[in-house]
Amino acid sequence: MKNKAKFIFACQQCGQQYSKWVGRCTDCGEWNSVVEERDGSSTEGNKGVSGSSKTSPEPISQILASDYPRYVSDLPELDNVLGGGLVPGSVVLLGGEPGVGKSTLLLQAADQFGRSGKTILYVSGEESGSQVALRASRLGVSTERILFVSETSLEAILGHIEKTNPEILILDSVQTIHSQEMESQPGSVGQLRECSNAIIATCKGRHMAAFLVGHVTKEGAIAGPKVLEHMVDVVLYFEGTSSQNFRILRSNKNRFGSTHEIGVFEMGSQGMRQVSNPSELFLSERPQTIPGSVIVASVEGTRPILVEVQALVSHSALAMPRRTALGIDQNRLCLLVAILEKRGGYRLYDQDVYLNIAGGIRINETATDLGVVAALISSETGKAINPKTVFFGEVGLGGEVRSVPKAAIRLKEAQRIGLKQAYVPMKIAKEVAKEFPQMDIIGIDHVRELNQHL
Ligand code: TYD
Ligand code: MG
Repeated sequence: MKNKAKFIFACQQCGQQYSKWVGRCTDCGEWNSVVEERDGSSTEGNKGVSGSSKTSPEPISQILASDYPRYVSDLPELDNVLGGGLVPGSVVLLGGEPGVGKSTLLLQAADQFGRSGKTILYVSGEESGSQVALRASRLGVSTERILFVSETSLEAILGHIEKTNPEILILDSVQTIHSQEMESQPGSVGQLRECSNAIIATCKGRHMAAFLVGHVTKEGAIAGPKVLEHMVDVVLYFEGTSSQNFRILRSNKNRFGSTHEIGVFEMGSQGMRQVSNPSELFLSERPQTIPGSVIVASVEGTRPILVEVQALVSHSALAMPRRTALGIDQNRLCLLVAILEKRGGYRLYDQDVYLNIAGGIRINETATDLGVVAALISSETGKAINPKTVFFGEVGLGGEVRSVPKAAIRLKEAQRIGLKQAYVPMKIAKEVAKEFPQMDIIGIDHVRELNQHL
């Protein structure tokens, strides 16, 4: 009986554990994902952690937060997303689709960290030394401070850390490493949990920062148990499609900063280039006189980004007309179409509606509502909107236009790139009109009013 307890069954998708095999995980609903594993929690492996109590509690006011200043990479787009640099002892999980540029970004960041005098241990379980060296020479990495090793064994990696004593560890990727002490396969949930735990404990103990690269599943979540995201300090996602050159670095969790900041990069022949003025990038190919194209001012964290919303409303031959949204929430589009139909008096029930944010960027803000509605009206009526106009504001179910935060930041950015006119919620129109006398500010109370203006 005692021996039996050492084996458990774990879902490879979500980490849920069972005492006997089941065909379908009751937690996440995945079929055939439950696999027998040695139970890591009941073996001696964990004793080291709980048994060594060399710690002693002390008043939090006497612990100096600034003992270990943040490492700044000189890539502001990365530093900002991290909350102002990399915190020593912290563990950052970086997820993203294959080929999006995770290894490239980390190598460039490592180069910058190296130039400021840090030692970096770069462990790759996927690429050989010559492959990484080839990339490094293409990227112009010149520092001597990046130590590379191609290794997948956890014990060997811990040995290398002991020997080289790096300030920063890069592990590419966390799914490839495995512990020889565990019998389950590399990449299994048990291995992933055990290896990550060991790395995280090492980081905290040595005040070493680490980047862990994580593969993502088809659905876009970091592969492996959700617990991995709970264990690390920061979870970053690198987004972008292979057909588009720009990439967005977004933080999902950050114990040391805001999760709203984003970093914008462009993949070029010499690696990632930082994009400090994304509005220009997203609006660069905008057609000026086509109906359905509207500029929307959105804010990501503290950063304003102007994007182009494109709508196409066309007669449907289907019994159930299509509602397709790329870049904004599909449900949000359906909601706005319904509002426009009921409150704005437009006939859309027999029309296909397509909506796209140009450039492939994803916007989660409700401040885009007014612009989306304007784009739909413009496409439906066939009248192009003044190309120097920007929109922002939330639309409620009654068709009312509600105010959104950070109006001044949005208008400032619009003014900077040369826009002259802004449609904003009525409630804040007066206020901002004083602040931006050079702009033609038009307050909107209800979506119905848009018809007279556009
Ligand atoms: P990579 O960093 O290997 O992606 P990941 O680690 O996320 O899988 O990036 C691979 C892609 O980037 C590949 O399609 C080639 C492209 N790339 C460039 O366009 N320019 C470059 O300078 C580099 C290094 C890669
Ligand atoms: Mg890679």
